[in-house]
Amino acid sequence: MMTLLALSASLAACGGIAGPVAPSPTPDGVNVPPPAGVTLRSAAASIGKLVGAAVKSNLLADGEYSRVLRQEFNYLTAEYELKWDVIEPRMGRTDYSRGDAIVSFGDAQRLRMKGHALIWHESTPSWVEDLPTDAFRAALMAHIRTTVGRYRGRLAAWDVVNEAVSDGGGLRDSVYQRKLGNGYIAEAFREARTADPSALLFYNDYGAEGLNGKSNRVYELVRDLKAAGVPIDGVGLQMHVGTTSRPSVADIAANMRRLAALGVVVTISEMDVVLNGPGSQDERLAAQREVYRDIVGVCVREPRCDGVTFWGFTDGHTWLPGQEPLLFDAQYGRKPAYSGVLDALLGR
Ligand code: XIL
Repeated sequence: MMTLLALSASLAACGGIAGPVAPSPTPDGVNVPPPAGVTLRSAAASIGKLVGAAVKSNLLADGEYSRVLRQEFNYLTAEYELKWDVIEPRMGRTDYSRGDAIVSFGDAQRLRMKGHALIWHESTPSWVEDLPTDAFRAALMAHIRTTVGRYRGRLAAWDVVNEAVSDGGGLRDSVYQRKLGNGYIAEAFREARTADPSALLFYNDYGAEGLNGKSNRVYELVRDLKAAGVPIDGVGLQMHVGTTSRPSVADIAANMRRLAALGVVVTISEMDVVLNGPGSQDERLAAQREVYRDIVGVCVREPRCDGVTFWGFTDGHTWLPGQEPLLFDAQYGRKPAYSGVLDALLGR
């Protein structure tokens, strides 16, 4: 068994334990992490959960960004680089360079990775809109086959279909639905399974985290796909929430339970918590901490929840600029939100 000293030495060798308190040299000169030097990554690993972040390829060369990423997370996804409009802005002219950069980084750091997202109405290249049905289907299936096949065996999971349920509860009126009918979802999952039989295949959505009309519809969709033998392995609950706008712990837990009972894994796939509400900045940060602790705690206690991915990790790089939704501030300082997640992972 690894001794504490050997463990800390090996951690130091792979970048050290950062923190508000730097490891202090002991009299024998070995850097020993402070007791509080546990990271999200080590805490998650100790309970067999994934703790992930969406990353951007252009930031990986930033030493501080990649250092925090390597130290704190064991799971990665691409924030934009694997979406169809980035890969194939013009028909047949694919460019995987940005996706490749992320996957190479993840491989080099031995991080588990999820691809995101094969089908999303917001990231569909405009040229597909004008294709007749047969050509549309051929282009979509080629996109899935080529993209999943390119990273076969390297990405542990894929978001196959993203946000297909409308806020009103029916299937969203997207170009996919209009051209191919509701069956496009099953077709996409089958194509992805063929392209990489080892990748876990997810349906991913927002606003379906707790119990409501939309989550009922997502539940029915997954139930029907499973009943039809469609190869779907998991459901991602995005979890873009706010300090004053969030589902209850009880509702998230109940929703995860019913999904798990269908035989799928659940994951919190894009969590961030915008800092809103009354009070001082310190009070808002404390409220944000509690939301992170509460919600990550639900996943910790649900055996079929594989972990949580945050939609970035530093407020310096977020799709919600100015709303301070993440775990680190723009200078990579740990926020109270970070402690909230750590507490949840440690069962506190
Ligand atoms: C967002 C990215 O964060 C932005 O950088 C990009 O401009 C638009 O997409 N739900 C999703 C994600 O599934 O793909 C979205 O990501 C955020 C909402």
